[in-house]
Amino acid sequence: MLVALSLGLAMLAACTKEQKAERIVLGFSQIGAESEWRLANTESIKSAAATSNIDLRFSDAQQKQENQIEALRNFIAQKVDVIAFSPVVETGWDTVLQEARAASIPVILTDRTVNSDSSLYIGFIGSDFVEEGRKAGRWVVEKFKDATDDVNIVELQGTVGSAPAKDRKKGFEEIIAANPHLKIIRSQSGDFTRAKGKEVMAAFLKAETKPIHLLYAHNDDMAIGAIQSIEAAGKRPGSEIMIVSIDAVKGAFEAMIAGKLNATIECNPLLGAQLMTSVTEVVAGRPIPKRIVVDEQVFTMETAQQHIQSRKY
Ligand code: AHR
Repeated sequence: MLVALSLGLAMLAACTKEQKAERIVLGFSQIGAESEWRLANTESIKSAAATSNIDLRFSDAQQKQENQIEALRNFIAQKVDVIAFSPVVETGWDTVLQEARAASIPVILTDRTVNSDSSLYIGFIGSDFVEEGRKAGRWVVEKFKDATDDVNIVELQGTVGSAPAKDRKKGFEEIIAANPHLKIIRSQSGDFTRAKGKEVMAAFLKAETKPIHLLYAHNDDMAIGAIQSIEAAGKRPGSEIMIVSIDAVKGAFEAMIAGKLNATIECNPLLGAQLMTSVTEVVAGRPIPKRIVVDEQVFTMETAQQHIQSRKY
């Protein structure tokens, strides 16, 4: 009886080991926890890994590129099967990506891209940030189509050197160029955080002698922070100063329902399932698309109430 029991336990241990050996090991370097969007993205990746039975080694870089490079080197040393990461900025990745290639570890980019040689990564899953900027621009062009005077716009940019900050600026400027009345009078980084958005908007309001008609924020968190400064300055966000931002997180819907934010452009953070599918395909030796773009919408103050219940983040 005792012998049978210990044999059974030994077999169970061997079986568990075997199953573990079959699990794909994925090293994922996340940017940080700077926004509501980022928290939803992290949750999506962790839960998708758990349901895919992928052994996820997760590392939070706290918005610092050096931490991400260190994490990637640790993953290489651990000989993980696949490395995935959301690069905080676009440049400075060549050396570590070459190290991953030398170790024969495939790399998948999620959310943001790099400006390295594209042969250094196997695929990129994420939004079209230029198009998001264009959507924000189109909303502004339509809103102010009858303007006969200048419309003074202030811009809160994302993290300096990041793909979404560069691309959202580019897309927005491309579209508003159609109307010479639309003028960006101030533009500064708020690092994608609520605290910085609040601080920079307060500085804009203090320094600016012209009236500010519109705020374009590269993410909802900065817009929400800025709303606090606008109110503290005795102005009405959403009417006196109109606001358009990007992400479409729950907090933005609440602000729209409260009449303080006019529109938000969706940036979908739910990339986990797509990433795990790609990881599984790569390990099985099957090709994956080089670029997977996520579908996204525009939401306004007028339609916020009907959408808020169905929002997943
Ligand atoms: O890269 C996506 C951006 O990063 C999101 O718009 C922002 O909220 C996040 O911090």
